[in-house]
Amino acid sequence: RPTAMVIAIDGPAASGKGTLSRRLADRLHFAHLDTGSLYRAVGLAVLRAGGNPSDAAQATEAAYALHPETTPLVLADPALRADEVASAASQVAIVPAVREALLAFQRDFAAYPPGNARGAVLDGRDIGTIVCPDADAKLFVTASVEARAERRLKELRERGVPVIYAAVLEDMRERDARDSQRAVAPLKPAADAFLLDTSSMNADQALDAAISFICSKTGLSDHCA
Ligand code: CDP
Ligand code: CDP
Repeated sequence: RPTAMVIAIDGPAASGKGTLSRRLADRLHFAHLDTGSLYRAVGLAVLRAGGNPSDAAQATEAAYALHPETTPLVLADPALRADEVASAASQVAIVPAVREALLAFQRDFAAYPPGNARGAVLDGRDIGTIVCPDADAKLFVTASVEARAERRLKELRERGVPVIYAAVLEDMRERDARDSQRAVAPLKPAADAFLLDTSSMNADQALDAAISFICSKTGLSDHCA
């Protein structure tokens, strides 16, 4: 079959990249991979084994224990969404061998999207820079740390989690720092990424802006009206 089209979406926590990626995939009939879930799955496996996510050997072992056949099932686990799992994910994500172990699954997904889709949307931190440097279109989604903390707070409260804004903001800053300052595959826009600041956009506006960039960049025209 012809080569699949790849859309790379990167950005910090709660920038809206996941929501945008899901909606883009729906609109374009592409497959979607939330690559953060892979790192969360590794973090969760270490926590469940009673281990320490910042121990490189434990994290690496958990990453290599993820097999492509069972990974889709693992990624559906609602436990992945917990905040302590996000934090564990950003700790295991520092380890180069963990990133290496997860690379083949992500590149395979992009090259051969499930369901015979003609393209794939991948979202994460290093899709445009490392995982799919030849992606057909790259977006870097951002928003102010305050806007992102507000969004996360709202989500947590809707789920009935008792939290205060200051703690969520602090958490967000800590994860931003860890993700952008690590030595391997730090969070940063690819040179050819389209920067989409969603601080004062709702999800519909972000989708419209992304679609119009993708259509002009790739020549896809059947979804751009
Ligand atoms: O995947 P990521 O952590 O970047 O963010 P998300 O889970 O897609 O979005 C975080 C929250 O922001 C969700 O509750 C969205 O409804 C909301 N939101 C958005 O996705 N896009 C906007 N432009 C504004 C808000
Ligand atoms: O949804 P949210 O943006 O809060 O987090 P996520 O996308 O699920 O990612 C969780 C953690 O995994 C991030 O803080 C990163 O440390 C790591 N990650 C990464 O290093 N590379 C990726 N491509 C995706 C996630």
